[in-house]
Amino acid sequence: MSENNAIVIEGLTKSYKDVEVLKGIDLKVERGTMLALLGPNGAGKTTIVRILSTLLKYDSGKVTVHGYDVKDQAHEVRQNIGLTSQYAALDEFLTGMDNLVMMGRLFHLSKEDANKRAHELLEQFDLVDAANRPVKTYSGGMRRRLDLAVSLIPTPPVIFLDEPTTGLDPRSRLAMWNVIKKLVEADVTILLTTQYLEEADQLADKIAVIDNGKVIAEGTSDELKSKVGNERLELVIKDSENFARAVSVLANYKFIKNDEERTINITIDSGVQEIAKILSLIEQNSVQIESLSLHKPTLDDVFLQLTGHEAEDKKVEDK
Ligand SMILES: Nc1ncnc2c1ncn2[C@@H]1O[C@H](COP(=O)(O)OP(=O)(O)OP(=O)(O)O)[C@@H](O)[C@H]1O
Ligand SMILES: [Mg+2]
Repeated sequence: MSENNAIVIEGLTKSYKDVEVLKGIDLKVERGTMLALLGPNGAGKTTIVRILSTLLKYDSGKVTVHGYDVKDQAHEVRQNIGLTSQYAALDEFLTGMDNLVMMGRLFHLSKEDANKRAHELLEQFDLVDAANRPVKTYSGGMRRRLDLAVSLIPTPPVIFLDEPTTGLDPRSRLAMWNVIKKLVEADVTILLTTQYLEEADQLADKIAVIDNGKVIAEGTSDELKSKVGNERLELVIKDSENFARAVSVLANYKFIKNDEERTINITIDSGVQEIAKILSLIEQNSVQIESLSLHKPTLDDVFLQLTGHEAEDKKVEDK
């Protein structure tokens, strides 16, 4: 039984023509918790969200939301979800207030109730001052807040947020995070997609990293970080000639490189001795470095290690 899980995805596949974009996704989200789906452009995040919200058919697998099957009980699913999409669907020519009232009426609220709810949401989302301006005059951050407000007219038990803060400035992002945190406190189950590691780190109970239509790692932020070793040593190399030499000198170590920025990010598994050894190798081979730093793994490292372009390139070379 999946009583404890508000979202269950098993063996989900989806192709567009002959391109397989979801290659067997398994995910569970416990009631009242937030899962962040973290992945680069094209990973399949929006595709998953659209399937969960009954907007898109899938090929095989089983998907339930709030106990209902998205294929056979789409109507029940829709009654229990809120969706804010990567591409907000607001009426540009109506005011914020009118958008909210209109959507309230669509949800069968009486005129008075729709008005009342609109006022509450404008207050909650800090949009009172802009309430009577057409949406086309709103900034990106204001639009996102209004879009989320619309999806909360009846607060549903499950909410999907597809990249809610992409393109927002840091202040608007923080404001959005606060709103989202309040939803989780109110026991709503949330599936959020993001390309921002910090966002997943800050907000989510669990994180699933997806790349190329597959879940490549899953766990709490700390669990994911501990997967990539204890410490990272980052070297910035002086020029491309030194960079090439450094890469070959360090061939026996686990690292991720960035050719353009000439950085080499090495996983340190066994402490100080290993660091000393690496530095003496660098020294012996007269590799000139610009800077070096040692840091605890961040989600960035997790992401880089799991989805690193080097790994992709190697796969291609291997074929
Ligand atoms: N209607 C479609 N027809 C064909 N291919 C599609 C269609 N929609 C999406 N795709 C492809 O499916 C893959 C996954 O797309 P999706 O939008 O789910 O990625 P995403 O993780 O949401 O990316 P982003 O971070 O850019 O929003 C991409 O390769 C995309 O080109
Ligand atoms: Mg997307």
